[in-house]
Amino acid sequence: MRYLKWKEEFLSPEVKEKALSELKKVVVQCKACDLASTCTNKVFADGNPNAKIMLIGEAPGADEDASGVPFVGRAGKLLTQFLSEVGFDRKKDFYIVNTVKCRPPNNRVPSDFEKKCCSDYLSAQINIVQPKVIVLCGATALKSFSTKEYKISDIRGQWIDLFGEIKAMAIFHPSYLLRNHSLDEGSPRDLTKKDLIRIKNFVEKN
Ligand code: URA
Repeated sequence: MRYLKWKEEFLSPEVKEKALSELKKVVVQCKACDLASTCTNKVFADGNPNAKIMLIGEAPGADEDASGVPFVGRAGKLLTQFLSEVGFDRKKDFYIVNTVKCRPPNNRVPSDFEKKCCSDYLSAQINIVQPKVIVLCGATALKSFSTKEYKISDIRGQWIDLFGEIKAMAIFHPSYLLRNHSLDEGSPRDLTKKDLIRIKNFVEKN
């Protein structure tokens, strides 16, 4: 998948706001793939464009499609709960987006073509927000950025250098955590909490 190169120039909050609002207009008009004709709302982003952390999920589900806001359904509520349990404020500390901006019917995994159609929008979001850390939430986000065949369970929790300056870490998707309730040491929920703490420690020092 093609991603635009990371640019180094500093953007003020005002410039970011204007650029994101222009980009959102383009996304709302986009008809590059068939998902545009089946979705209700384009789901552009949520959170703080000046946050140090950008979280990238997979694609909107039914609740996100209805509201136009990412991660507000069951999985999103669990994500928000995990973020707050480790001391993050979702609205302040994160800018949250998805790999694709339209809901795939029946919540299927987006196709390579659908991801490609959205990849310039995602790149532009990264270039405008200029996060210090990218959290790749789940396998779809991870695969979109990596040419290697990583398994999320092998790579989660490790820092990966994606764009030189930006650190990235993959974490389990909250939908997976909804199916795995254990809080035991080494369980997916336990590991996710530890990954989020590692991210928090990093941004507090950088
Ligand atoms: N799952 C995602 O990956 N993104 C959302 O916005 C909701 C559920």
